[in-house]
Amino acid sequence: MYNRKDYYYKKAKDEGRASRASFKLEQIQSRYHIIKRGDVVLDLGAAPGSWMEVVSEIVGDKGFVVGVDLLPLKVKLKTNMQFFQGDLNQTEEILSHLHQTEEVDVVLSDMAPNTSGVAFKDAYLSYELCLKALEAAETLLKSGGNFIAKIFQGKEVDDFRRELRRHFSKIETYIPPATRVTSKEIYLIAIGYKKS
Ligand SMILES: C[S@@+](CC[C@H](N)C(=O)[O-])C[C@H]1O[C@@H](n2cnc3c(N)ncnc32)[C@H](O)[C@@H]1O
Repeated sequence: MYNRKDYYYKKAKDEGRASRASFKLEQIQSRYHIIKRGDVVLDLGAAPGSWMEVVSEIVGDKGFVVGVDLLPLKVKLKTNMQFFQGDLNQTEEILSHLHQTEEVDVVLSDMAPNTSGVAFKDAYLSYELCLKALEAAETLLKSGGNFIAKIFQGKEVDDFRRELRRHFSKIETYIPPATRVTSKEIYLIAIGYKKS
C-alpha cells in the first residue's frame, strides 16, 4: 500500500534534508506563493531547520530568515540565516530588536507543543502557541505581509480562524500532501496583513 509517511521520510533522507517538514513548506509555497525573493522572514519553531533552508533558497542573498526555537538547529547557517535559541514566550528582546531593525514580510509558525496524547489538551496547547505567534506577527509584519501557522485540529481552530480574519485579507486552510496521514495538524495561511 502507498505509504505517505515512508515516502516523504525516505525522500528527506535521500536528499539529505533535516526533516520531511521541508516538503510541507514547499507544497504551501507552490500553492500560495507566500514568500518572495528578497523577503525578510521570521520562522518560529525553526528546529531542526528544514524550513529555514527552504526559505533561505527562496529569499536569496537580498533576503533574510530569522529562526527561533527552544531546541538547537541541525543545519548549517548560511549568510542569510540567523537563529535564536529560546522560548518564544521569553524572546521579547529578540522580537523588539527585530521590530526596530527590520520590516518583516512573512511570519511562519511550525511550532508544536510537547504532546500528551490527549487530543483536546494538545489542541489547546497548539492553539496557545498560535496565539503567541500571531502576537509576534502583529508586532512585526509590514502591511500586506503574510502569516502561516500550524494548528492541531480541535474546537479552537474556528476561534483562531476568526481572529486571523480580523487582521488579514484572506485566510486559507491547507493540509500539505507531505503531512502524515495520521497527523492532526493543519496549516492556516493568512494573506495580506491589515496593519492598523
Ligand atoms: C515540528 S517542529 C518544527 C520543524 C521545523 N519547521 C523544521 O522545518 O525543521 C516544532 C518545533 O516547535 C518548537 N517549539 C515549541 N514550542 C516553542 C516555543 N514556546 N518557543 C520556541 N519554539 C517552540 C519545538 O522545539 C520544535 O522544534
